[in-house]
Amino acid sequence: ALISLRQLLDHAAEHGYGLPAFNVNNMEQIKAIMEAASAVDAPVILQGSAGARTYAGEPFLRHLVRAAIEMYPHIPVCMHQDHGASPAVCIRSIQSGFSSVMMDGSLLEDMKTPASYAYNVETTRKVVEMAHACGVSVEGELGCLGSLETGRAGKEDGHGAEGELDHSLLLTDPDEAADFVRQTQVDALAIAIGTSHGAYKFTRKPTGQVLRIDRVKAIHQRIPTIHLVMHGSSSVPEEWAQMINDYGGDIGQTYGVPVEEIVEGIRHGVRKVNIDTDLRIASYGAMRRFMVEDRKNFDPRKLYKAAQTAMTAICRARYEAFGAAGQA
Ligand code: G3H
Ligand code: 13P
Ligand code: ZN
Repeated sequence: ALISLRQLLDHAAEHGYGLPAFNVNNMEQIKAIMEAASAVDAPVILQGSAGARTYAGEPFLRHLVRAAIEMYPHIPVCMHQDHGASPAVCIRSIQSGFSSVMMDGSLLEDMKTPASYAYNVETTRKVVEMAHACGVSVEGELGCLGSLETGRAGKEDGHGAEGELDHSLLLTDPDEAADFVRQTQVDALAIAIGTSHGAYKFTRKPTGQVLRIDRVKAIHQRIPTIHLVMHGSSSVPEEWAQMINDYGGDIGQTYGVPVEEIVEGIRHGVRKVNIDTDLRIASYGAMRRFMVEDRKNFDPRKLYKAAQTAMTAICRARYEAFGAAGQA
């Protein structure tokens, strides 16, 4: 059944687990996620970005999700719009049948001006008013993540990056977060604690802690009832990145967020964990390997199937690690 983000995350908070929210663009990704969730009995969050809507087209996305719900009637599914840039985008998604939307009003936040904060509060509150009237949940964002939000060039492809971004000035402030939640009444809040979008998060293999879990704790203590969201939470599995390179690709040396740090975040109020890059890397590695290893094949379904199998394994591992298995 299609259910709202609020319902899913309330359950997750009550039972102390976290849910991965996977980005979807096509049938293979959706099937991979549903297959994994069904195998371990986990609730599902599917999320579509603006890029996904451009790629698949709104009707295809809508019907693919309906198909997933029809095929897996025992699994609760939330269809969430990822990074809505304006109230208009969010309204369009509500009309399209999404049960949750993200109003990302944080895009100006790296300017750190009172005007950028007021803009975020104003647009997010507007979306909450409309969405709640339709039974749709809203995720807001406060603070500033890496490349996507700041528009800093040179990170997404691993070229031209000087190393890690200095996130320290852009982390979510606990007092501001409390004020933001009070004013907007969002159901979930995305926070900046040192993650960034894309494959190139950290240039060196993490030794100590890479995220500011102390900040997660501080925000959770300040506003214990709000569901926290971590964006940019791919772990960028080394074996799949290596697979891409072993079979003719060229991915730069890179490290993602260690799964144990996400689990630590979940202990302190993180309930939704956004993952896109991991499924891209795994499916791409599997397809490159398949094409080299089975050169006689020309049935594309076998190629897509290899991608799907690789994605299912990642999804299953995340459901289990985040404690979502058995919670559907
Ligand atoms: O947060 C962004 C997601 O990774 C979606 O990426 O805009 O390329 O679909 P996209
Ligand atoms: P990754 O790029 O780390 O997978 O993050 C995805 C994300 O945050 C989507 O909103
Ligand atoms: Zn994101």
